Amino acid sequence: MIPDTLADPIFRDVPTVQSLGARAYAGIPLIMENGHAIGSFCAIDFAPREWSALDVEVLTELAAAALREIKLRGALTEAEAQTQVAREATRSREEVRAIVAHDLRTPLNFIKMGTQLVAEVPTARENKRTAQANGNRSRSDVATDRGPAGSGEARSGGVKIQAIPLGVMALLADARAMLQPLAARHSIRLSVKAEAALPAVLVDYERILRVFSNLVVNAVKFSVAGAEVRVSAARHGETVRFSVIDIGEGIRTEHLEQIFDRFWQADAKDRRGAGLGLAIAKAIIGAHGGIIGVTSVLGQGSEFYFELPIA
Ligand SMILES: Nc1ncnc2c1ncn2[C@@H]1O[C@H](COP(=O)(O)OP(=O)(O)O)[C@@H](O)[C@H]1O
Ligand SMILES: [Mg+2]
Repeated sequence: MIPDTLADPIFRDVPTVQSLGARAYAGIPLIMENGHAIGSFCAIDFAPREWSALDVEVLTELAAAALREIKLRGALTEAEAQTQVAREATRSREEVRAIVAHDLRTPLNFIKMGTQLVAEVPTARENKRTAQANGNRSRSDVATDRGPAGSGEARSGGVKIQAIPLGVMALLADARAMLQPLAARHSIRLSVKAEAALPAVLVDYERILRVFSNLVVNAVKFSVAGAEVRVSAARHGETVRFSVIDIGEGIRTEHLEQIFDRFWQADAKDRRGAGLGLAIAKAIIGAHGGIIGVTSVLGQGSEFYFELPIA
């Protein structure tokens, strides 16, 4: 407690005290439990002043409150740091869970839709094939036929597929049926076109519909109302190449590399998705032994394509 700093042999020469114009000074040390003094709580007056017992009492009380606050914040930071560590430790588990959750949202509806479509158009040979495939699946969940590695089952990035030969027209028709309502809601025209006489492809029906869904949802999302999204299929060597083309906002060249990474989004604040759609699509196409890629011109649109093996 210093009643007059100018009269004090030490405080007289402390530049910070004098530059503040502090004539009277009272300081209460802030001491942590471990005995560390972390600073002091001080009060100043611009005129000389005798510090009363009450002043000291009030200051001591305030200093104690400040110390509690400091400890509390320290504990909070500590807790946050721990949460962060825990978060990182479970991150890979979270990723898997996120993918599974994303994956669980719809596939059963796809099957129903595919089967319904057949009921309505019983003569469409290609669709009948889809129905048979779905029927097989629902009954036994056992892989039929050949598949990549000759087994009908393949794994890639944790994605397990059961490939069966499916007609491209049926696949596109089902994709259209599934995605048309969404496109319409956003005033987007969805056009579907296939080259004539395409061979059947060897695919996991639900998984491939998931890929169409992820790509078309993006194409719609990054387009403006009134635009068109085109889905097409064409022969490409020993594969059939499918494309989803939009005339939306496009993607920066420097982003094209990361675009298939999990959780990656050009706009990190984009809460419409989690940045998983393309990573899932890539894992599924990879499991089919196919490739997936993108070309895009910023401001003009994007083309996402993937190639699937011929049956
Ligand atoms: N058709 C597209 N046009 C423009 N950007 C796209 C398109 N498709 C994907 N992207 C970009 O790639 C990111 C990742 O896509 P995706 O993995 O589907 O995650 P999400 O849709 O949840 O954001 C998107 O956030 C967007 O930045
Ligand atoms: Mg998406």
